[in-house]
Amino acid sequence: MKVSIIGGGGRVGSCAAFALQCGGVVSEIQLIDANVAMAEGEALDLLHGSSFSSDQRIYAGDYAKASDSDIFLITAGLRRKPDESRLDLINRNVSLFNQILDSMKVAGLCKNSIVFVVSNPVDILTQLAVQKLGLPWQQVIGLGTQLDTSRFCSFIADELQLAPTQVKALILGEHGDSMVPIWSSANVNGLPLTGLPQWNAGTQGKIFERTKGSGAEVIKKKGGAGWAVALAIRDTIHAIALDQKRLQPVSSLQQGTYGIRDICLSVPTVVGRKGVVEQVEIELWPKEQLGLQNSAKALKETLANVKG
Ligand code: LAC
Repeated sequence: MKVSIIGGGGRVGSCAAFALQCGGVVSEIQLIDANVAMAEGEALDLLHGSSFSSDQRIYAGDYAKASDSDIFLITAGLRRKPDESRLDLINRNVSLFNQILDSMKVAGLCKNSIVFVVSNPVDILTQLAVQKLGLPWQQVIGLGTQLDTSRFCSFIADELQLAPTQVKALILGEHGDSMVPIWSSANVNGLPLTGLPQWNAGTQGKIFERTKGSGAEVIKKKGGAGWAVALAIRDTIHAIALDQKRLQPVSSLQQGTYGIRDICLSVPTVVGRKGVVEQVEIELWPKEQLGLQNSAKALKETLANVKG
């Protein structure tokens, strides 16, 4: 399985490459970046560790060499300037993203390629990729709330002093301010979270607020996310590569789930080699369902203001 990382010279792209290298599942990792020297430097550094990791091909390349990729991972993006509005940043990122999509189209895509969008605003950019690439919608996936979900589970585990991998608690909806915590099904190895003697309902709101503010918190402290987002990406890439049919909170074009359509956001989604296998609608608390509809509304409003 060949993965081409567009933005591979940046923090998120290079951390994802390292996570994939350590994972040892995909056989070829190509780094593409507008900053060619950075892509070459990161590829070289990764290559230096090959003898300790796995027998993968890792190299810096270009769009022409990417056309036979099984997965295009897009992490390239811009940062907010000090006095810039969120919408201005969105429009600058949309314009960069459109150039990336054009370059992919010029180079050519395989009919089975999966396009995996991580750049922000991820739900909006996933939607543009569906609209512009001409691939079946099932083959275009956004990271969505997969990272928010990991942050949420990790904070809950920290609070309970229990193993993070046994905490199962989803965040759905927009990867942004309107994200929705799904407390109704939160559990630890199958036991309802809220029934556990260690659980303190008073900290529930704080844990969610910290989850929601985590992207900003990590930007403030170290300039931006890297390690956790890389693991979140790897989880989805492995689900595709190994056709695992894992249920993940990734973003895809909605087809009526929870009454939502014509917008990309995260609902429980089965992921396999063909991309989205199924979008699952399961009963949620009414306020959670309402939260998802609010996310759809917020995203549709943003989309209406996006140029291009
Ligand atoms: C974050 C970015 C990766 O939430 O979207 O940190």
